[in-house]
Amino acid sequence: RLETKIEGIASSIRVVPHFPKPGIMFQDITTLLLNPKAFKNTIDLFVERYSSMDISVVAGVEARGFIFGPSIALAIGAKFIPLRKPRKLPGEVISERYVLEYGTDCLEMHVGAVQPGERALVVDDLIATGGTLCAAMNLLERAGAEVVECACVIELPELKGRERLNGKPLFVLVESH
Ligand code: PRP
Repeated sequence: RLETKIEGIASSIRVVPHFPKPGIMFQDITTLLLNPKAFKNTIDLFVERYSSMDISVVAGVEARGFIFGPSIALAIGAKFIPLRKPRKLPGEVISERYVLEYGTDCLEMHVGAVQPGERALVVDDLIATGGTLCAAMNLLERAGAEVVECACVIELPELKGRERLNGKPLFVLVESH
């Protein structure tokens, strides 16, 4: 049953208070990865949703989008694009800055990784403020791709990250309050 699978996934995520800073309730997906059944159910639920949406590219956000994205891409017959932190990709890149609680960060994508008109899915482990997914979508759209949806394992709804996605659909498996 769907509820049983979701409950198994939710209970496999370890919450670590005050990491990496006081006041942050860190959502640790490494414990989900240690539970093969919950890990497989996570991938399967995404694959069930996306296998009939005509998606040709899955873009994963460094670092934890790299854990979930490629399995989904392989299962639905899509290519995988890593969206990386600055100065990691060797080829020509486009970049998007985004605002963090303290300072800014940046994501980069290889020019030519996606063709105009391709239907894309953006994958990450978690949405908090939504800044990261917003930057990821901007990269794909600047390259002419159509972002069909964003997919995350975990949403922190109190942070209202969904509202920063400019109406783009967001699919999540677990909400953490
Ligand atoms: C975390 C998480 C998301 C992002 C979400 O990554 O994995 O990518 O934060 O936050 P937001 O919705 O407020 O933008 P982090 O910045 O810790 O980078 P890392 O995965 O490289 O450690």
